[in-house]
Amino acid sequence: MASQARQKKQTAGRGSSRATYQIAVIPGDGTGPEVIREGKKVLEALGKRHGFSCAWRPYDLGGERYLKTKETLPPTVLKELREVDAIYLGAIGHPDVKPGILEQGILLSLRFQLDQYINLRPVKLYPGVWTPLRDKGPEHIDFVVVRENTEGLYAGTGGFLRKGTPEEVAIQTSVNTRHGVERCIRFAFEYTKRHRSRKKLTLCGKTNVLTFAHDLWNRVFQEVGEEYPGVETDYAHVDATTMWMVKNPEWFDVIVTDNMFGDIITDLGAMIQGGMGIAAGGNLNPEGVSMFEPIGGSAPKYTGKDVINPLAAICAGGMMLDHLGQTEAAQELEKAVMQVTATKMKSLAAGKMGYSTSQVGDLVVSFLGKK
Ligand code: IPM
Ligand code: MN
Repeated sequence: MASQARQKKQTAGRGSSRATYQIAVIPGDGTGPEVIREGKKVLEALGKRHGFSCAWRPYDLGGERYLKTKETLPPTVLKELREVDAIYLGAIGHPDVKPGILEQGILLSLRFQLDQYINLRPVKLYPGVWTPLRDKGPEHIDFVVVRENTEGLYAGTGGFLRKGTPEEVAIQTSVNTRHGVERCIRFAFEYTKRHRSRKKLTLCGKTNVLTFAHDLWNRVFQEVGEEYPGVETDYAHVDATTMWMVKNPEWFDVIVTDNMFGDIITDLGAMIQGGMGIAAGGNLNPEGVSMFEPIGGSAPKYTGKDVINPLAAICAGGMMLDHLGQTEAAQELEKAVMQVTATKMKSLAAGKMGYSTSQVGDLVVSFLGKK
């Protein structure tokens, strides 16, 4: 299959119309399969309208497979995933599997092995969506977080000394390489320049305390910034960033930050944009294979009930199309989602939407291309 995928890839390629994209689908655990089903439905409808198709290649990675075989990400699967055009992921997390095993063994492994060094998280409040921020509307909440996705505290360096004794020491080191920091910051400047009208990029760090790691971030930010005179730059400490995200989210256009800070502020971002029902993200390797996912978990208690909100997975599908070069289709998808949130859905919360999971997918399809 790997060579077949490679062959197809040459004929398809990014951005060409009449393309067939080889998409690895990992529905995963809990409600993952239900939301991915809706995402595929919307992408297939868009393919018909825009002249592309998706060859779905399903993979059963997740909790069930792990419980049966003790496998998380087998090398043979990884090898195949290296050959596809993109990966579409539902959710990973199973109530019978100890926390950490699947996250590390599948999600983080994929990010690291495929060198998906950017985690891209749009934080955009769509019309009709409730935000916990009083007096803030869609005109105030529209920014993107560019999170470094392969280094920092996630690198896994450190260890224990005298484990299990009263003198125990646990050390976990933040790894920040010039190469890793620079490619992330460069991506953020390029993204801001190409995709944003305000063209403002804020570095989020902690230069007053992390005087080594964030000194590097700051220096690289200044240096690379010289090459982008059209991008306005700003800096905010991470603690202040969380304050401004709540008080003045309109200050932000694009935020670039390290892995751990990015993890934290993007959950805050998800909440101010309406919650896990809508928050989507991309794990990008701009030179390799990227993976798109709704950022909410597997929500096991809602599994199989047709009540979970598929919009986050649908939006992740939109990010995937944009990445594949199907810009118009991606814009059409987002517009349809906005019409659904503005005119149809009562709430984005599971079971309170006023529609079932599959009805929400149908609604998005019905609005494709509508003015
Ligand atoms: C995320 C998640 C992951 C992370 C977990 C599941 C390992 O929280 O994508 O933000 O910490 O990166
Ligand atoms: Mn997170």
